[in-house]
Amino acid sequence: MGLKDNIHKRETEKMSEKSFKMMTFTFKIVDFIFRYIDKRVRKFGIVEGMTIVDYGCGPGRYTIRFAKLVGQSGKVYAVDIHELAIEAVKSKMEKLKFGNIIPLLVTGYKSDIPNNVADMVCAIDMFFIIKQPTEFLKELKRITKKEGILIIDDGHQSRSETKEKILNSEVWEIIEETRDHLKCRPR
Ligand SMILES: C[S@@+](CC[C@H](N)C(=O)[O-])C[C@H]1O[C@@H](n2cnc3c(N)ncnc32)[C@H](O)[C@@H]1O
Repeated sequence: MGLKDNIHKRETEKMSEKSFKMMTFTFKIVDFIFRYIDKRVRKFGIVEGMTIVDYGCGPGRYTIRFAKLVGQSGKVYAVDIHELAIEAVKSKMEKLKFGNIIPLLVTGYKSDIPNNVADMVCAIDMFFIIKQPTEFLKELKRITKKEGILIIDDGHQSRSETKEKILNSEVWEIIEETRDHLKCRPR
């Protein structure tokens, strides 16, 4: 049974502690072998001073790259539904002495992030897990500046499924597509 089937069988989007730890361990091995994250992130268009939201940050592998790129004049909200994700991000912040990351635990699709603050929201390898995509995409739009950008990818779903969910939400316009992600602007 694939990851996607497991997710659809779960009542909640929150995975068990055991699954989260397994995922973190797998990421460590994958990142050590393939080292693709920096190359991927370079295509997002991040510049110093930006406010970025890493929505579904997991153990923070993208969060720390974002924090380096935005520098001390920028900030990164690291948002997740899992306590272990927030703990992992906090421990990376302490180890790397990053003061520009704000870890945020959320329940449902409502975060404490103010309206229209994000220059960029990144939802990497997580949109396929979301059971109510329109509600979720509306929340992402709420926190994004009018001229801000959403970077979202397919994860374990097809590109056509990702696009259909975005278009059905009627709140985002797809402005660019690459093999790895879609770039969207608020409508
Ligand atoms: C497969 S991991 C990817 C983590 C990270 N984006 C990366 O690529 O390394 C998916 C993450 O999304 C989180 N997640 C799932 N549903 C969520 C929700 N409704 N709100 C916030 N985070 C969520 C999970 O807890 C998990 O940490």
